[in-house]
Amino acid sequence: MSDTKVYRVQPAWKKDALIDNDTYQKWYADSVKDPDKFWGKHGKRIDWFKPYTKVKNASFGGNVSIKWFEDGVTNVSYNCIDRHLKKRGNQTAIIWEGDNPYDDRKITYNELYEHVCRMANVLKKHGVKRGDRVTIYMPMIPEAAYAMLACTRIGAVHSVVFGGFSPDALAGRIVDCESTFVITADEGLRGGRTIPLKENTDKAIDIAARNNVTVKNVLVVRRTAGKIAWFDKRDLWYHDEAASVKPDCKPAEMKAEDPLFILYTSGSTGKPKGVLHTTGGYLVYASMTHQYVFDYHDGDIYWCTADVGWVTGHSYILYGPLANGATTLMFEGVPNYPSPSRFWDVVDKHKVNIFYTAPTAIRALMGAGDEWVKKSSRKSLRVMGSVGEPINPEAWEWYFNVVGEKKVPIVDTWWQTENGGILISPLPGATDLKPGSATRPFFGVVPQIVDNDGEVIEGTGSGNLCITEPWPGMMRTVYGDHQRFIETYFATYKGKYFTGDGCRRDEDGYYWITGRVDDVINVSGHRMGTAEVESALVSHDKVSEAAVVGYPHDIKGQGIYSYVTLMAGVDATEDLRTELIAHVRKEIGPIASPDKIQFAPGLPKTRSGKIMRRILRKIAEDDFGALGDTSTLADPAVVDDLIEHRQNKK
Ligand code: WT7
Repeated sequence: MSDTKVYRVQPAWKKDALIDNDTYQKWYADSVKDPDKFWGKHGKRIDWFKPYTKVKNASFGGNVSIKWFEDGVTNVSYNCIDRHLKKRGNQTAIIWEGDNPYDDRKITYNELYEHVCRMANVLKKHGVKRGDRVTIYMPMIPEAAYAMLACTRIGAVHSVVFGGFSPDALAGRIVDCESTFVITADEGLRGGRTIPLKENTDKAIDIAARNNVTVKNVLVVRRTAGKIAWFDKRDLWYHDEAASVKPDCKPAEMKAEDPLFILYTSGSTGKPKGVLHTTGGYLVYASMTHQYVFDYHDGDIYWCTADVGWVTGHSYILYGPLANGATTLMFEGVPNYPSPSRFWDVVDKHKVNIFYTAPTAIRALMGAGDEWVKKSSRKSLRVMGSVGEPINPEAWEWYFNVVGEKKVPIVDTWWQTENGGILISPLPGATDLKPGSATRPFFGVVPQIVDNDGEVIEGTGSGNLCITEPWPGMMRTVYGDHQRFIETYFATYKGKYFTGDGCRRDEDGYYWITGRVDDVINVSGHRMGTAEVESALVSHDKVSEAAVVGYPHDIKGQGIYSYVTLMAGVDATEDLRTELIAHVRKEIGPIASPDKIQFAPGLPKTRSGKIMRRILRKIAEDDFGALGDTSTLADPAVVDDLIEHRQNKK
């Protein structure tokens, strides 16, 4: 599209920028030409107890083995805390902004050190050892950060589960990684409403026990002091425990490839996968992308609005910023509470310089009206980011013109849970911007576009996005299932990492991510497997069959559209619709609530019984004039019924 607007790098963005365009070009070329040399140099940005002599030992072929800095020894919490103490012990490490605007706290690096050491000693006291999996199911409070860092300090592997997930979903994740220690809070607090985290944990532990995984201890942080059940032999109050241990804890010596964390994410088939990240390469990549993509300078106040339950929270609230000695802001609340000015009030209150959020929030705030933005000054802002889904040009323009008043560069950062850090993004001082494009690859990242047959598309064109070379931050395996790792990411296009995203490359070599090409949907930046929602629906005793597709949604990006076939004799009522939505919320969590449910007497299937999702997507989009070839359907008549009863009539 040659009519695309281009926003040139402004002189002010370039002035003190770490990377200008010439530097980008040179570093990028070097990184691709000689990855060993490039990463050998940049690996030194973190401290090593024992330096590495090997840099890269990785291959996307055969059994797929990815190792970086493999003989190096380090520790993540040491890099995020201890090494800063001399210079910035009294600098704020974490600004915590509560759900209630009058509730905030500042934690210095010295204080962070003590909290993390104490939490680490609590874990040790209760028998948590190197390599053990610890499940963290927490609200956005500083103790969530202490918990994660405490695990890394003793070499335990954390698995953070988003606080919006249901007891069933939490149980599944506890069972999959056989985690016997859980850290949670009595309740969470968001938008003035409480979330029963401890109660959910109790339920999840019962479910896990029925699946042969016994949780031995639950460490509970008091957040709201709401009423909770208590099991003396199992449950521990964090404030009592932390007071009972020493404020120092030696960081464990970890090998670069020792597991750091597991994070579950949805794919097109089966249960969520445990994405495994390791120690050295992850931290090098998270900290380096944090520095250059956000043009982070010492002293900047940095705010990423994500939740620590997602990878964005791991890499860009915690590990990247803290490894860089930054002041990182952690926000407990939501964008529209107590008013749609909240984000901008917080920006002014804490003089935020770098702000990183998601398109769904931008669209929602755009819908609320400019007046909510204009009440604030926002003059501290220097860089603004976007992540989680494609940002539509209208939302990009609003972010740029209204929030940034045409003075603040936007970095549209494309990446995935599997990637560990940002792969495609502008750099503020280097990259001319095009609204809706994630622009160019980060150092060391080699994107490739292939067609459905795997033929490489050179120059301009569209297709499926692959990455052909390993980078330090990438996942190493699916926890407990290396075969699934190979099959999911490296089998579709042999020897290449397949992202699952569609993509276009334009005449300037810019990448435009067009969204998932598999059966994964993206609802408000939350990744959801249609298969997961389907299996939640069919687990209801009145449902015989279900098919789920995404459809364009003004705020959420995609909404969840479910076609449901009921058991014989069951009436399709409004009450049942409500019941099914509640059922999915119970099975997975509120983020998986179907937006639309269409009761369908039959689903369009091929003669071999395969559901033709292409047709279901079209009907959900109210675009049934373009259904394409339906001649292979076993019963073409079902389509007429589906069209007649479609839920998205315009
Ligand atoms: C999927 C990954 C790690 C970021 C948080 C989401 C989509 C993410 C962008 C972007 C277009 C994007 C992709 C990707 N996505 N960022 N800037 N532009 N699409 O992580 O849950 O692992 O989801 O989110 O479809 O595959 P995730």
